Amino acid sequence: MTPTKPELYRELAAQLKALLADEADRIANAANMAALIYHGLPDLNWAGFYFRQGGELVLGPFQGKPACVRIALGNGVCGTAASRGATVLVRDVHHFPGHIACDPTSRSELVVPLIEAGEVSGVLDLDSPLLARFDEIDKSGCEQLVALFADHHHGYPG
Ligand code: SME
Repeated sequence: MTPTKPELYRELAAQLKALLADEADRIANAANMAALIYHGLPDLNWAGFYFRQGGELVLGPFQGKPACVRIALGNGVCGTAASRGATVLVRDVHHFPGHIACDPTSRSELVVPLIEAGEVSGVLDLDSPLLARFDEIDKSGCEQLVALFADHHHGYPG
């Protein structure tokens, strides 16, 4: 039977915990998390990380087509989520002023800030070719996944 959306996020959280267990390398864990989400959630065309370096976000591990490498804080959906320290859910990217179109087929987007030691250290960005692909269940589900990643790495160097 097809799982409900909350069930799917519970399964993804369990799988993510298993992937993170016993591994401290941040890039390796971010890469596996991006792959888990990209292949585990339907109707995505991009899933991955940007990590903050000073005043900009720099592309991290992802699945999907090649993407813009550097995004200034405050720019686009990713830079907006990072500067606000809050999740941004965009039903139609054509109506988000300043949206950065890495892939013109993207129609909706969900960006969750990664907050470690009280600071925004990056974002998780999900893109979909479907209009209004993401809802409040996706928002809270992805926030929980990002919190698992942040909790796991808090205290690990690098
Ligand atoms: N659309 C994003 C840029 C990143 S790509 O979608 C992978 C934005 O507006 O921040």
